[in-house]
Amino acid sequence: MRTSAFLESTDLCLQAQEAVAQDEPVLLRSPVEIDLLLEFARSTAHGLRQDPPGLECRFLYDRRGCELFEEICGLDEYYLTRTERSILERHSSDIRDITGPVTLIELGSGSSVKTDLLLRAWLDRDGMVPYVPVDVSDSALRSALRSISARHDEARLVGVNSTYEEAFPLFAALSPVMVIFLGSTIGNLDREEFDRFLEDLSDGLAPGDFFLLGVDLVKDSEFIERAYNDGRGVTGDFMKNLFVRMNRELGSGVDLHGVEHEAVWNRRREQVELYARFTGPQTIHVEPLDEVITFEAGDRVLLEISRKFVLPDLERSLERFGLRSKAVYTDENDWFALLLLQKAEPGD
Ligand code: AVI
Repeated sequence: MRTSAFLESTDLCLQAQEAVAQDEPVLLRSPVEIDLLLEFARSTAHGLRQDPPGLECRFLYDRRGCELFEEICGLDEYYLTRTERSILERHSSDIRDITGPVTLIELGSGSSVKTDLLLRAWLDRDGMVPYVPVDVSDSALRSALRSISARHDEARLVGVNSTYEEAFPLFAALSPVMVIFLGSTIGNLDREEFDRFLEDLSDGLAPGDFFLLGVDLVKDSEFIERAYNDGRGVTGDFMKNLFVRMNRELGSGVDLHGVEHEAVWNRRREQVELYARFTGPQTIHVEPLDEVITFEAGDRVLLEISRKFVLPDLERSLERFGLRSKAVYTDENDWFALLLLQKAEPGD
């Protein structure tokens, strides 16, 4: 695997254009050094001092967090992954029929069966497919590239190790493209983040380019809540792991026995809210910043939201960003949807 660093977005665009023409996998990485520990410390101290307190869900995904999330995806109660996969099994080649032979850019490292289904549809039709996964995790990206190149040696693979936002300028440079964002990960953004993300993503696309978006739909609230309160307690472990990480990296000293998992459906906001509830007093340290925050028994900290969508409302919001539905695919129970969107011409 060839590795090279990009300096600024124009440079990244040139490198990516060159890389998609190569046979061997290439890994491009952002040289922007982020002090992740300091970012984690600042975000944690700030979040715990908010009223109500909340933490950023992106910090759930350390190595152990990624393993636990993988385990969640295979749980009986967690219908999202297998339902989205069943839609892709049925419709990947229909999607390829609509888009034509575009470059696939996936936000997330996509080593899963879901990505395979899309790649297969492109390879069956075109014999070749440029595939560009984008991920902040170097290890996740490397292992995705390794496993995909072992299965599909006709795919032209270019991994981009950066934040999603840093990769947005790539879309126009590699146009025509289909940007892929699966798993209803967009549901973990609050309303403000959601608007900012879609605005920037849409600005990055050239008119005529495609965006494939996977979203979980509003349905029976007990059924949804069960997906986040699984019988084996894996979701609880996933949430608690954030405090394990805080203890390890920030010297937080959280009493893990005093942390309970709570996931509740908020009907008005149409979202599941995942909280940690403290069963006794907690004194939480953020050592790199020399801060201490205290909590009482019964206090809750919001760790993640998972929004669920109503299709016509979602399609209207996407229209506001110039993203127009070309096709909407759902499963037989209408639990989950895949929207194939196309960036409109300016003024259209
Ligand atoms: C990644 N994301 C779409 C998951 C979800 O369903 O919102 C994260 C998750 N949190 C707990 N279980 C799954």
